[in-house]
Amino acid sequence: MTKTAIYPGSFDPPTRGHLDLIERASTLFDHLIVGVGVNTTKTPFISNEDRVAALTELVEPFPNVTVETFEGLLVTFARSRDCRILVRGLRAVTDFDYEFRVALANRQLAPEIETAFLLAREEYSFLASSVVREVAMLGGDLSHFVPPVVEKLILAQLSP
Ligand code: PNS
Repeated sequence: MTKTAIYPGSFDPPTRGHLDLIERASTLFDHLIVGVGVNTTKTPFISNEDRVAALTELVEPFPNVTVETFEGLLVTFARSRDCRILVRGLRAVTDFDYEFRVALANRQLAPEIETAFLLAREEYSFLASSVVREVAMLGGDLSHFVPPVVEKLILAQLSP
């Protein structure tokens, strides 16, 4: 039986931390779907199309990884892909409370689906898309935070 996992997130923008998690999760499952959550009520920092395009390029080295968008409940998307494993990254204890509540809500909605947590690598334990957005807006160096393809996207977006 093929073991498919979904790594869901907003990826707004995708960071080096996300990429590290994708690489490590790709070795644990037969098929990893990077699920880009689309929230139609919010304007993202990076458009849905650009996030998907950047992630698709970033996962090219991993043949068992694909990128898809989803709207609505994550567990509905997971069921539609015959997937019973959700992967989330934990950076620090401060992530735990939120992740715990979401994982329990998802379990209530879909008891057959498990959430598996992978610890972020130490050097990325501070890194969040919100940090990247703030550094970008203030003109800081993004090269340690995001891969070049994402840096290019952000700079293009910010240039007048
Ligand atoms: O990277 P993020 O912003 O923490 O990702 C959050 C995401 C997209 C994974 C989460 O908001 C999500 O699963 N949204 C879909 C709605 C849903 O299923 N919520 C879970 C019940 S609380």
